[in-house]
Amino acid sequence: MALPDRGAAIATAPKRGEQLKHVVLYPVDWLEERSGLVGGIKYFLFRKVPRDTGWFHTLGSATLTAFLVQAITGVVLAFYYKPDPDSAYQSIQFITNDLTLGWLVRGMHKWGASVFIILMFLHMARVFLFGAYKYPRELNWIIGVLLLAMGMLEGFTGYLLPWDQTAYWATVVGINLNGTAPVIGPFLAQFLSGGSEISADALSKFYSLHMLVIPGALIGLILLHLYLVIRLGVSSPPWSPEAAGRDRDEPPPRKGGRRGLTQPKPRGANGE
Ligand code: HEM
Repeated sequence: MALPDRGAAIATAPKRGEQLKHVVLYPVDWLEERSGLVGGIKYFLFRKVPRDTGWFHTLGSATLTAFLVQAITGVVLAFYYKPDPDSAYQSIQFITNDLTLGWLVRGMHKWGASVFIILMFLHMARVFLFGAYKYPRELNWIIGVLLLAMGMLEGFTGYLLPWDQTAYWATVVGINLNGTAPVIGPFLAQFLSGGSEISADALSKFYSLHMLVIPGALIGLILLHLYLVIRLGVSSPPWSPEAAGRDRDEPPPRKGGRRGLTQPKPRGANGE
């Protein structure tokens, strides 16, 4: 009887590398076929950006990273924080002194808030000084302004939550400042403090604004902001020899289409 040809069997068996590739690619293909998500992520990661972008262009992503750190540490703090005037201060003390690594998470959230706001201002300064707010990116600037306002409100509402003397009196100052605004000022002050003085209601309101309303608005605005960054592309620095966007491959204008809405004209095109 002839012995089985082991050499041929080994040669035709799928190589281990191939098997591994199959195992890794199967779920990726599964997801792509059903959602197109993988193609979308590939487009996002490998899209073209001007060749002369530099460190200044990383400030937007740095701001995004700071926001994500705030979101993650905030969720952990919310596991242990109690938004009730009788136990808020104690729960913060517990997080800081007793909870494993609680001091680190709280410290990251507290300092991270300043980092987030500072990065937002630096990013905005970059956009302003590079003239990146000009056509066709005006809408992204407007969304940015809303992000800035929401970011600062998030800081203001978070400051009351430790419910200690600093938190209380800083909030009194903030609310009184708001109260001096024309027309809506007094209403706003009354609403936020929950009476003529800061009451227990104020803590619940600030907690709800800090945990639900403002983060929700921030996430929505950030998604819109990033969508526009991807759709419009990142602008070149003002000193770029290629005047921002001039060498982009634009599709030919649509017949009868309104230029400016459907066919953004690159800055510097047609000798302008
Ligand atoms: C939560 C806050 C913010 C996040 C996470 C964020 C994120 C980003 C990212 C990742 C980019 C693309 C990379 C870059 O140019 O750095 C970008 C671009 C841009 N951002 Fe922001 N941003 C924020 C706040 C702001 C603010 C406050 C403004 C202005 C008021 C602003 C205006 C713009 C504009 C106009 C662009 C387009 C710049 C270009 O194409 O060169 N952003 N942002």
